Amino acid sequence: MLLSPQAERNWEDLCSVLEEVLEDQSPRKLFALELGSGTGQHVIRFAQKIPFVTWQPSDIKEEYRDSIKAYIDATQAKTVLQPIFLDASEPWEKWAGLSRNSCDVIIAIKLLQYSSFKTAQGVFSGAGQLLKQNGLLITHGVFAVNGIITPSCNEHLDEELRKLNPEWGLPDIDVLRQQAYGNGLRLERMIEMEDYYKCLIFRKL
Ligand SMILES: C[S@@+](CC[C@H](N)C(=O)[O-])C[C@H]1O[C@@H](n2cnc3c(N)ncnc32)[C@H](O)[C@@H]1O
Repeated sequence: MLLSPQAERNWEDLCSVLEEVLEDQSPRKLFALELGSGTGQHVIRFAQKIPFVTWQPSDIKEEYRDSIKAYIDATQAKTVLQPIFLDASEPWEKWAGLSRNSCDVIIAIKLLQYSSFKTAQGVFSGAGQLLKQNGLLITHGVFAVNGIITPSCNEHLDEELRKLNPEWGLPDIDVLRQQAYGNGLRLERMIEMEDYYKCLIFRKL
């Protein structure tokens, strides 16, 4: 079981956002796909707090999928499915056989800043196909706005990410908004979180 200190710090705030945006949906049974799940700490906590959702974790890396499996075993989580390999930069037809209009929620936590623009394109085009009408795409991270990154700690984060991989870096909210628009989604809300992080809530029209 891998441990991410940041996931341990921010799961509660993320849970509150999910509880709030899904409030009017319970007691309907929902299906949520998590992209780039990482260690599995988030999905396990979400499942414990939000039991009316079936959670499908996924990651591109085997070590993370193994960690998610270990969390599922350790917590005996009944509403978390076994993790699947999913490369979000690939076309949705390659997303582990998931079908069109099958998801109520797709969530990507800190994925977009740690991946290429091709992944952002994949996330929005996949969400456009997999989400049901009125379904939600929730992306959490640090973002640029109109090409501008503030404050200086975020500029520094962007530089550090680009040093790690020139294709990484803070995505621009306006570019994401255009991606959303092109795929039948619209940016409905921006929720400010700790440390200049935001949750962007997109709805499928
Ligand atoms: C910064 S970590 C965030 C992990 C987790 N969501 C969290 O917040 O703790 C980024 C995650 O995205 C995954 N990832 C990177 N590129 C991906 C891609 N193209 N498709 C799916 N997952 C990807 C990585 O393996 C990693 O688990």
